[in-house]
Amino acid sequence: MNLPSFIWLWRIAAWSMGLTGFLFVSLLAIGGWMRYLRLQGETVPSLDGQTSTFIGLRRLHFALGVGLVLTVLLLLSIGIVGTLGHFGSLGHSAHLPAGLTVVALTMASAWSATQINHPQKPWARSLHLTLNGLLMVALGLVSWSGWLVVQKYLP
Ligand code: HEM
Ligand code: HEM
Repeated sequence: MNLPSFIWLWRIAAWSMGLTGFLFVSLLAIGGWMRYLRLQGETVPSLDGQTSTFIGLRRLHFALGVGLVLTVLLLLSIGIVGTLGHFGSLGHSAHLPAGLTVVALTMASAWSATQINHPQKPWARSLHLTLNGLLMVALGLVSWSGWLVVQKYLP
């Protein structure tokens, strides 16, 4: 098998990470906008009777959220394939637990989002917000630890 070189690996990692950051900030902005509209209208948190602006934002937020799940999974596979190809084993630094935490939080956030409009699950919205707050910290840690790892390979 022709294994990817490390420059190739961290370049793609850095670009996908840029996309991940962009998606996260967009999700934060659109989510904040939705929250503002919801609180201002003081509507019952249900989809019925919502404005078309809200429905549009919600669709966009959901689509970008799916995008975030995909870029995070892409980064996970690049990281694992690249590390296995280079070292034949995993777990060389704090980057591994940081990466796994990001993946777990992103999946949990996406799952909590699917529960938000359930009438018997009022906790889903605050869970979504808490998980995304933690995700922000975890994304910072994974970028920092990833950058430290990259330093080892730079001349
Ligand atoms: C992981 C993928 C994500 C998916 C699939 C997703 C999906 C959703 C859905 C379906 C809602 C409910 C909208 C409604 O009230 O009907 C929502 C609300 C929200 N999301 Fe996300 N989301 C994701 C990630 C994020 C991220 C990363 C952030 C912040 C950085 C975020 C911030 C918010 C906010 C602020 C709300 C509004 C809560 C409120 O109305 O009080 N979401 N999201
Ligand atoms: C969501 C973001 C990310 C995830 C989920 C992720 C995941 C992973 C995982 C699971 C590994 C295997 C680590 C090991 O077994 O020790 C890895 C390795 C690696 N990642 Fe990431 N990563 C992310 C972001 C980044 C970023 C932003 C960079 C740098 C720009 C980066 C650079 C690397 C490098 C160079 C390796 C090789 C590890 C080594 O030599 O010890 N990653 N990544």
